[in-house]
Amino acid sequence: MPSVAEIFETMEYGPAPESATTALQWIQERTPFRHFIGGGWRPSADGITFETVNPAIGRALARVSQGGPADVDAAVEAARKAQPGWRALGGYGRARFLYAIARHVQKHSRLLAVLETLDNGKPIRETRDIDIPLVARHFYHHAGWAHLMERELPGYEPVGVAGQIIPWNFPLLMLAWKIAPAIAMGNTVVLKPAEFTPLTALAFAGICAEIGLPPGVVNVVTGDGATGELLVNHSGVDKIAFTGSTEVGRLIRRATAGTGKRISLELGGKSPFVVFEDADLDSVVEGVVDAIWFNQGQVCCAGSRLLVQESVADRLHRKLKARMETLRVGDPLDKTTDIGAIIAPVQLHKIQELVKRGAAEGADLWQPSWASPTEGCFYPPTLFTNVAPAAEIAQVEIFGPVLVSMTFRTPAEAVELANNTRYGLAASIWSENINLALDIAPKIKAGTVWINSTNLFDAASGFGGYGESGFGREGGREGLWEYVKRRVWEKGSVGVGECGSVEAGDRVSHTPTLPHSHTSPLPVDRTAKLYVGGKQARPDSGYSLPVVDSDGRRIGEVGEGNRKDIRNAVEAARGAATSWSRTTGHGRAQILYYVAENLEARAVEFGTRLASFGSGGEEVARSVERLFEYAAWADKLDGAVHHTPLRNVTIAMPEPIGVIGIACPDHAPLLAFVTLMAAAICQGNTVVIVPSEQFPLAATDFYQVLDTSDVPGGVVNIVTGRRDVLAEVLAAHDDVDAMWYMGPAEGATMVERASAGNMKRTWVSSDGDHWASTYDSCELLREAVQIKNIWIPYGE
Ligand code: NAI
Repeated sequence: MPSVAEIFETMEYGPAPESATTALQWIQERTPFRHFIGGGWRPSADGITFETVNPAIGRALARVSQGGPADVDAAVEAARKAQPGWRALGGYGRARFLYAIARHVQKHSRLLAVLETLDNGKPIRETRDIDIPLVARHFYHHAGWAHLMERELPGYEPVGVAGQIIPWNFPLLMLAWKIAPAIAMGNTVVLKPAEFTPLTALAFAGICAEIGLPPGVVNVVTGDGATGELLVNHSGVDKIAFTGSTEVGRLIRRATAGTGKRISLELGGKSPFVVFEDADLDSVVEGVVDAIWFNQGQVCCAGSRLLVQESVADRLHRKLKARMETLRVGDPLDKTTDIGAIIAPVQLHKIQELVKRGAAEGADLWQPSWASPTEGCFYPPTLFTNVAPAAEIAQVEIFGPVLVSMTFRTPAEAVELANNTRYGLAASIWSENINLALDIAPKIKAGTVWINSTNLFDAASGFGGYGESGFGREGGREGLWEYVKRRVWEKGSVGVGECGSVEAGDRVSHTPTLPHSHTSPLPVDRTAKLYVGGKQARPDSGYSLPVVDSDGRRIGEVGEGNRKDIRNAVEAARGAATSWSRTTGHGRAQILYYVAENLEARAVEFGTRLASFGSGGEEVARSVERLFEYAAWADKLDGAVHHTPLRNVTIAMPEPIGVIGIACPDHAPLLAFVTLMAAAICQGNTVVIVPSEQFPLAATDFYQVLDTSDVPGGVVNIVTGRRDVLAEVLAAHDDVDAMWYMGPAEGATMVERASAGNMKRTWVSSDGDHWASTYDSCELLREAVQIKNIWIPYGE
C-alpha cells in the first residue's frame, strides 16, 4: 500500500472548469459590438468589423467594429465636449463616479473574469484573483485622488482629452491603469483596446453607461493599429498614454513630436531576476513561476532573465526543472491550470522562432517531459541555461513562457549583468540578507524593484520604466502628474505645486549696485573655449562665433562646438555620473552653496557682462538665489512610503536620471543657465549644457566659478555654438538619458523626434520670460528625477 507521502506526491488534480455560459450569452446578445461614443453605442461609420478569437480553441468569439477616421473624430469630439463639465464637477463629484465604477466592477467581476479568459487565453485563476480585483482597487484608490486633487495638487488642472492605447496582455487592468487616474484628475478619455482583446473594454463601457457616467467622459473605440494611429495623430487630443511594444512607442514619440501633446509610454522589458546564494531557493522557485510563467510570460515586467550566483546555480536549476514538470498547461477556464493560451498564432510563432534561434546559438534548452495541447495556441514552460549575456534570447523581449538563465560570482557582477539591457522596467532580488538586497536595489536601473517577491502591483505604487522601457509612471501619487498641467505659466501667477513657486519681486535685495547699461563697454574679449571634464577645451572645429551686445557691437567670441565636442562632453558627463549620483545630498548642497558664494563674489563682473546684453545685477542676484534654492532641495526631495496592502513596504525613491542634455534659452542667459544646471545637478545628474546662442558669455564666464567651487570635473560640461545643431546631436545621442530644450517650436519638434532613438525623456519649453518672473521649482525637480519603487515584504 502506498504511503500518504507517496499518494501526496502522485495525486493529480481533477478537472475544475469554470462555466462560460453566461459570458458567451452576453457576447451573443451584443455581437457585432459597436463603439462606445458620447455615452451611446455606434457602429463604425464605414461599417467595417473584425473578429476576436478565443486563442485556447482557435475559434471566433465575436465581431467588433474597426474604428476609422469618422469614429475617432466623433469620440474625440464627445470627449472634448464633456471635459469642461467633468472638470467643473469637482473632485468630490468625480470621486463618486469612480467609486461607483469600482463597485460595479466588483458586482460584475465573474463575468469580467470569464470574458477576459475567453478573449485573452489567460487562466481564470489569474483573471479572477488578480486582474479584476486590481481593476476595482484602481478605481477605489483613484476615487480618493479625485477627492484630494485640489488639496494635494494645488494649482494643477487636467490636461484635457487623453487618447489611451493599451495592449492585450492585461486588457482590463491596463484600461484601469489608464482611465482611473485620467478621469480622477478631470480629464476625459478616448480608449482604444488591443485588437486581440476588446471585449472587457466594451463590458467596461457598459458599466460606465450603467452607472450614469456623464456621456463623453469615457469613450471606447475598437480597432487595430490603424485606429491607434488615428488617435495619436488627432489634433483634438492633448495627451497620449500608451502601453505596448517599444517599436510602436517609438513611432508614437516621433508622431507626436512638436505637437505639444503630452505622452507617457510604458514599453517592453527584459527584467532581471537576481538570486544570491543565501536566498531561500524553494521560495525562489515559486517566485520564478510567478515571474515568467504568470500570464504565459506575456508580461512587460516578466522576470525573464534569471541571474543566479554560481555556487547555487545547479541546485536551483534542478529544483526549477522539478517544478516545471508539475506545471499544468491547458484550458484556461480550468481553475487548476497554471499556464493558459498564448494570445495568437503570430505571437506563438514569434516565441517558437526565438527559441529555435536560442538553441542554435548554443544555449541549453530544457522543457518538461509532457506535451502541451496541440489544439489552440499553447507553449510549454521553457528554460535556457548556459546562455551568453549577448545572446539574442538574453537581449530581446520574447514575451512568452521562456526563461534564460545566466550565472554570476559577485554582487558587482550581478549588477553589471542586470543592467546589461536597453530596458529598465523591473527587477527582482532574492537574498536573506536585507542589507545586500537594499544595496543592490538602487544600483539596478529599473522603475520597480521587488525584494524576495515579484510581479506585485498596486494602485498606490507607481509603475513605469527607465531607458527604452519608456517614461512616465502609472499608479501612486507619481502617476497623477501624467494627467495634470500647471494652471498658469504666466507672469504674475502665484503659489503652485506642493513645493510652491517663486515669484519675482519679493526677494531680499542684497544686490550690489551694478551698471545697468553699457556706459563702460567691455573691450573685445578673448575667445572663450568650451568646458569639458572640468577643463577648458578648444573646439574641435577650430572655428569661433562672434558675440555681439544689445547694440550689435562685437564684444567677444566663443568656440563653435560640433558633434565631436558634444561626444567628448557626453563621455565626460557619463564618466562623472556614478560618483556624482552617489555623492550625498548634503555634499551636493555644499557644493552648490559654494558655487552661489563664488558667483556672488563676482557679482559686479557678471553684472557688467549682463549689462552688455541689456540685463544686469538683478539677474545675477536671482541666479545666486536659485543656486541657494537648489542647494536646499539637494537633500530634501524625499520619496514616499506607499501604502500597498500586501504585507510589505513600498519605498518610492527619487533617483537621478543620469546624463541630461540641456539647451538654454536666450532670455535671461545667466539665470536660465544657472537654474537648469542647478536643478539637474542637485539631484545627482550630470549635464552637458549648450548655453544661450546669442549671449553665451555669461556661461563661459561661469567656468571660473565652477573651477573654484569644488564641482567635480565632468559634472557640468558646457559646449557653446549653434543651439539647434548641438541640441540635435544631444537628442540623438544614445548615452544621453534625458534632454531639456528651451527654444522655438521647430527646435522642440526636432528634439522630440531625434530623442526616439533611445526613447530618452524630453522636456521642452518655449523661450518665454518665466525665468525671471514666475517659476515652479518642483516642475524642474520632477524632470530631474525618476521614481523607483522598491517593494520589501515583511513577516515570516
Ligand atoms: P503593439 O505595440 O503593436 O500593440 C499595442 C497597442 O498599440 C495595440 O492596441 C495596437 O493596436 C496599438 N498600435 C499598434 N500600432 C500602432 C500605431 N502605429 N499607432 C498607435 N497604436 C498602435 O504590440 P503587439 O503587436 O500586440 O505585440 C508585439 C510585441 O510587443 C509583443 O511580442 C511584445 O514583445 C510587445 N508587447 C509588449 C507589451 C508590454 O506591455 N510592454 C504589451 C504588448 C506587446
